[in-house]
Amino acid sequence: MKPSLEIADLKEVARRRVPRMFFDYADSGAWTESTYRANEEDFAKIKFRQRVLVDMTNRSLESTMIGEKVSMPVALAPTGLTGMQHADGEMLAAQAAEEFGVPFTLSTMSICSIEDVASVTKKPFWFQLYVMRDKDFVLNLIDRAKAAKCSALVLTLDLQILGQRHKDIRNGLSAPPKLTLLNMLDMAIRPRWCFAMLGTKRRTFGNIVGHAKGVGDMSSLSSWTAEQFDPQLSWKDVEWIKQRWGGKLILKGILDAEDARLAAATGADAIIVSNHGGRQLDGAPSSISVLPEIVEAVGDRIEVHVDGGIRSGQDVLKALCLGAKGTHIGRPFLYGLGAGGKDGVTLALSIIRKELDVTLALCGKRLITDAGPELLYKPAAKTE
Ligand code: GLV
Repeated sequence: MKPSLEIADLKEVARRRVPRMFFDYADSGAWTESTYRANEEDFAKIKFRQRVLVDMTNRSLESTMIGEKVSMPVALAPTGLTGMQHADGEMLAAQAAEEFGVPFTLSTMSICSIEDVASVTKKPFWFQLYVMRDKDFVLNLIDRAKAAKCSALVLTLDLQILGQRHKDIRNGLSAPPKLTLLNMLDMAIRPRWCFAMLGTKRRTFGNIVGHAKGVGDMSSLSSWTAEQFDPQLSWKDVEWIKQRWGGKLILKGILDAEDARLAAATGADAIIVSNHGGRQLDGAPSSISVLPEIVEAVGDRIEVHVDGGIRSGQDVLKALCLGAKGTHIGRPFLYGLGAGGKDGVTLALSIIRKELDVTLALCGKRLITDAGPELLYKPAAKTE
């Protein structure tokens, strides 16, 4: 098999190894997927300024995100059903991130539970919260994240209702998958995935099952979110969640300068400029295209991070040059996980680190903390 040299290679291996409904779940956007595509396409439009004959020795990608030291400013984003890309996926990805020195964020909609991930890691991870109608359950989730010593709560703001992803409906997405003939055939041709999955008992939503009361049919994500997620979530809720949590708070899903100002006023520690990987409002702008106006709107009142469309270290550098203090990757690490478990996640991170390091050097900088707009190419204004 040819070696995986870039994230796109890992994606192709994952496509072969992961049952179609789960690969497609990760690889979908809402409706026409125009925002999903724009996230990647708009990164490609940004160009670097090549600089030469600059000392390239002693380079460093070390930085901080919400005050935590990171070996590079790239966190693993919260992704649903990660333990379906590979058995025990969240535990493996968290371990890979810990060894690499970058933050791992566990999703509320994960397969492995908060406690599972805490049991295999030594450093604190971050926990992403979805707010359900059942407030006792939400309070309990916050308390469980505290008990597990999570060092940040990532509150997602852009998924009170689920954007429609056609592939999930067509594939009959569920966790665990229903044993229809088609699903069984699809799994049978992926023995590696099946054997690993037979070796774990974690095959459904570990944070929910056994903790939430009266949860009906979890198998269809859309009916489950429609039934459980709180459609009335408002800026006022951010206050009580912040109080109850009492630690670092990150608000995820900001795409508008006005919302960014409101987010900064909550006293949260960071925002993530995000359109949920193009999975929610199809037709919304790409995250990278709105990053500069959001950075401008909040100034230094709150740390700004970005996710959506990052597929390389070059994309990470572009985001940092446009004012992000940190970046979050979802699909790139999921492809690594599907392709090769923990080693695949480490490989995805290594690929991004190498690309980031070399790109920074060829732009004439040695320290990632020096990345700024002057590293980006702007065509000279034409004179008459
Ligand atoms: C959940 O966060 C999803 O986007 O499916």
